[in-house]
Amino acid sequence: MSSMTPAQWVQDELLAGRNTQPALEQASAYAPANIALSKYWGKREKSFNLPITGSLSVSLADHGTQTQLQIIDAPEHQVYLNGELQGADTAFVKKLDTWLGLFMPADTHLRIDTHNTVPTAAGLASSASGFGAMALACNELFGWQLDYTSLSTIARLGSGSASRSLWHGFVKWQAGEADNGHDSVAYVLPERWPKLRVGILTVSSASKAVSSREGMQRTVQTSELFKQWPAQANSDLAIIEQAIMDADFSLLGKTAEHNAMSMHATMIGAWPPLVYWQAESVAAMQQVWTLRQQGVEVYLTMDAGPNLKLLFEEHNTALVKQVFSDLDVIQPFSSAKQNS
Ligand code: DP6
Repeated sequence: MSSMTPAQWVQDELLAGRNTQPALEQASAYAPANIALSKYWGKREKSFNLPITGSLSVSLADHGTQTQLQIIDAPEHQVYLNGELQGADTAFVKKLDTWLGLFMPADTHLRIDTHNTVPTAAGLASSASGFGAMALACNELFGWQLDYTSLSTIARLGSGSASRSLWHGFVKWQAGEADNGHDSVAYVLPERWPKLRVGILTVSSASKAVSSREGMQRTVQTSELFKQWPAQANSDLAIIEQAIMDADFSLLGKTAEHNAMSMHATMIGAWPPLVYWQAESVAAMQQVWTLRQQGVEVYLTMDAGPNLKLLFEEHNTALVKQVFSDLDVIQPFSSAKQNS
């Protein structure tokens, strides 16, 4: 346990010597959503969202969150999600309030307009791009001039996976060892993979019964299978990093799929069991494996929800779309998006 609270750490260490009041009236920022190829599953400390292992993701280009902040003369923050005012007692607003309370002067309030550019049904409009965009926009609003790796720590305090949502491209979040998480930071990898494709396969738009936050806690506390997880997660992370450096797609895809399936095995071994899959998810998995048997290199990954994310390369796009006609195909390294 750290002797400091997250708010003390942010104010006394991360932001030491920087503006404590907003420098501008308004600011805006965009952050992409991200899909972990090697997952973050399990915390060593809850209040700072510190992970047991590192993780590595690829960002989803134009699928993400655009957020605008404006100082307002009002008794509380006003939060709009996709144009709709959100009630102060919703989980979304409470989470934002708590996060803003880490550094925002108590008498300063914002109008927050947040737009997800991801179809909400895909379950990708996660807190990751939301807190990523908030961290970037607050950096502008206050004029902190923090580098992105430092900003990743503040995004992490909103949601762990948000630490990986500040950049385009491949992003690694290292676990770190410190109690206050100063070394639990993310950074972008220099490698680009223009032919890589991520396909979002929405099989169900039903909202999650159990959030990732709650699900990972239940898994750590009750799943015997979780004991195996940290060693595999660390090894998968190293293999995926190497596969990216070697541009070895088979190794990347295979390791990412194995990692996701093993994470789901730890969830299924929790009590009560956590099964995020729907019948349609399993049917789609079978289709992916059939396609692979037919020689089309396509792999799958899944998070705490029923939808699949497919990994393949540009030359297989038409073959993959023949089977999955509704697939939303993302080009993570489309030329306009730089990974820095
Ligand atoms: C399965 O980042 O949503 O998507 O830190 O509690 O906010 P909190 O959890 P969150 O968990 C994401 C879990 C995951 C895997 C991943 O993105 O690495």
